[in-house]
Amino acid sequence: MSVSTQTQFSTTWRCPSNIALVKYWGKYGNQLPCNSSISLTLSNSYTEVTLELTQKATQDTVELAYFFEGKPNEKFEKRVKQFIENNQNYFADLMNYGIRIQSHNSFPHSAGIASSASAFGAISLALLEASYRLNQQELDAEFYEKASELARLGSGSASRSMFASYAMWGENEKVPHSTNQKAIQVNQIHPQFQSFCDTILIVEDEPKKVSSSVGHALMNNHPYAANRFEQANQRTAQMIEILKQGEMDAFIQITESEALTLHAMMMTSGDYYLLMKPGTIEIIEKVFEFRNATNLPVCFTLDAGPNIHLLYPESIETEVHQFIQTTLKPHFKSLIHDKIGNGPVCLSLVCS
Ligand code: DP6
Repeated sequence: MSVSTQTQFSTTWRCPSNIALVKYWGKYGNQLPCNSSISLTLSNSYTEVTLELTQKATQDTVELAYFFEGKPNEKFEKRVKQFIENNQNYFADLMNYGIRIQSHNSFPHSAGIASSASAFGAISLALLEASYRLNQQELDAEFYEKASELARLGSGSASRSMFASYAMWGENEKVPHSTNQKAIQVNQIHPQFQSFCDTILIVEDEPKKVSSSVGHALMNNHPYAANRFEQANQRTAQMIEILKQGEMDAFIQITESEALTLHAMMMTSGDYYLLMKPGTIEIIEKVFEFRNATNLPVCFTLDAGPNIHLLYPESIETEVHQFIQTTLKPHFKSLIHDKIGNGPVCLSLVCS
């Protein structure tokens, strides 16, 4: 397709973040995971991206203007430009246009929520949609699978944000159709796990001292790597069954052990480091005590940071909110109430 001054194209996508139950930690090659993982798609923690195609001045290079929360953001612009350059085969037609992206997050920048999953999710959806529309193609189920593959190339965990409720990513011999290239939807979820809440307790809101990329790299030559990858694959397959059968105790056991195992990997890597803070430990101990005392199914997980994700069924929301207010409050700075979500959504489309 030749450069057209007539084409007006703009699309806005909202893509949620996700929280892993079985963690992706360690990668190889072109953004391929060393083990399979499974996550819960969130609802209130999302990135919105508006992508516009503009007239292009030169033919040979990618022209990208990237704005985050209304301001040019050179650092992320560089990363996204590289991402577009590396993956031109997904949207060859777009290379005839300049690309302008405006992005914002629903959560504060300092909240410590990993924004790369929702950001690369939304960017991939918008880029791919532009390419589909330029080719007069409708968005079908395959569109989301392709977007998942593309998002993975930007940030591994972003691959799982394309689907509602629960998604798994990574080849697993026990899971049909699983692949390292993209995430897939986990179906037939038991009612117990269909209305799940995630309250994020922000223990520390400073930027992470060790990035996820550096953390993944530390799994190369890690003394426990082989066992860890095997364990994660087994747990991913187990978790899929647990979600189908509604086995709450097993869900809690794997979810919490995964959080602690992830951090144990950090603490036992060659360049060891520690991301948990005193508040993180206080909250974990109080969750154990509360669960022992009440028998209520509330548990925690962590991503690569000190903040706690409290997971529980919506049916015990009142009790958990009370527990947070009366017992956990001294140990965190702020909180975000989130819950299981329906996946990405296109908010507007102008195509003429
Ligand atoms: C601990 O997806 O942020 O959150 O592929 O380098 O962008 P890159 O890594 P990223 O890693 C996420 C790690 C994690 C676990 C998980 O989400 O599975």
